[in-house]
Amino acid sequence: MDCLQAIASRRSVRKFGPQAVDEADLVRILQAGCLAPSAGNRQPWYFIVVRDAQVRRQLQAAALEQEVIGAAPVVVAVCADPELSAARYGERGRSLYCLLDCANATENMLLAAHALGYGACWVGAFQERAVAAVLALPQGFRVVALVPLGRPAESPPMPPRRRLEDVVRWERWD
Ligand SMILES: Cc1cc2nc3c(=O)[nH]c(=O)nc-3n(C[C@H](O)[C@H](O)[C@H](O)COP(=O)(O)O)c2cc1C
Repeated sequence: MDCLQAIASRRSVRKFGPQAVDEADLVRILQAGCLAPSAGNRQPWYFIVVRDAQVRRQLQAAALEQEVIGAAPVVVAVCADPELSAARYGERGRSLYCLLDCANATENMLLAAHALGYGACWVGAFQERAVAAVLALPQGFRVVALVPLGRPAESPPMPPRRRLEDVVRWERWD
């Protein structure tokens, strides 16, 4: 799929069919995450792949009971190790770059999933400590996103976007 076409046609999908996610496809999606740009190429991300129904159920509970988590055959938790970024960039790496890098990886995976015919959604509303406990993350790791994915069972319309002329300023603000 053409890159711009994938960007334009990707939607947040929250309903999934019963089909499993093909392992080779899953690896391609994870690889797309690894190809994201990161500050100083530190790549401070870890991707926890959750397929177990009971663990997905626990993640759903930690994510305000959002059904999209339990409904998907696979949930990828995108996690950051802030110290990998802090080692080079100090506080800015710890509090900002590692999160931006993981956001980049998440978007890459959403686009790759879409290009391969899967539906996915960025879920960011969760109790971070509860998710970290469910996943047994090392101390200090941040959870940036939960990404449920599977074969789409809905094709949502595009939610409205702000107009280009409302968000772009040429050269300066005024
Ligand atoms: C940081 C972030 C957090 C989000 N959290 C949630 C969430 O917790 N639950 C959910 O259903 N969608 C969540 N979304 C998806 C947005 O609602 C969605 O991207 C937005 O409405 C635009 O729709 P689209 O992705 O189809 O273009 C989140 C998206 C982002 C980027």
